[in-house]
Amino acid sequence: MRIIISILIIGAALGAVGFGMLGLQGKLSRKPPLELFPDMDRQAKLRPQEPNKFFANGVSSQLAPQGTIARGEPIQTAAGEVYRFEDSPVNTGRVTGTTNFIENNPLAINETLLQHGRERFDIYCAPCHGRLGDGNGITKKIGVMPTVANLHDKRIVQQMDGEIFNTVTHGKGVMGAVGPLIGVEDRWAVIAYLRALQLSQLGALEDLTPEQTAALKK
Ligand code: HEC
Repeated sequence: MRIIISILIIGAALGAVGFGMLGLQGKLSRKPPLELFPDMDRQAKLRPQEPNKFFANGVSSQLAPQGTIARGEPIQTAAGEVYRFEDSPVNTGRVTGTTNFIENNPLAINETLLQHGRERFDIYCAPCHGRLGDGNGITKKIGVMPTVANLHDKRIVQQMDGEIFNTVTHGKGVMGAVGPLIGVEDRWAVIAYLRALQLSQLGALEDLTPEQTAALKK
């Protein structure tokens, strides 16, 4: 008998607690509901168009910095051409509006660019192509990349800069895309350096001054 009374009392108490916490279904309340597992329903964030004291101008939606280009928005270059930023030769390695590769590196070639390109080449290309670009990188030595292109092959020397940019950006054959790893300008820097590497292997005796030839013959 006592046990039954205890059970009834405990049951009533639990019921009262449950009712107190959960309330009547459909009843309106101004208090936030009790959430046992809130997941990520509520989080700290700035709502657009609402005032916010965090920024000096008190606006939560800040304007984009000057010079920001929206994706797909047409831009006008210094030369007066108009195209979408995504279609610019720097971005695609192609003549805008065609599938033709651009012949020359669109960046200004100077020593800083070449040094930067050398650094990037040694990091991102040398493991496979070797620091000389001859295709004898470490991945060949340890056997994970049995055949790697020799970048001094006549066929590759003759490619346009845009085609090499395309290979680097999207990969080709068994070579994976390097584009996702290094930025657009870094890729052009690498290509500028690659041209210097190729030139270093293409030197002919006639390129030397008479004094240099004489010094070499000694
Ligand atoms: C993981 C190894 C690997 C890395 C890293 C790599 N390559 Fe390659 N690359 C290859 C292989 C392998 C080939 C030959 C692909 C084929 O013919 O299937 C190749 C081919 C090429 C070609 C010739 C494409 C053609 O037209 O036949 C060029 C140019 C080239 N790589 C440039 C680069 C440059 C520049 C970098 C650095 C940004 C680089 N590669 C990084 C493995 C690599």
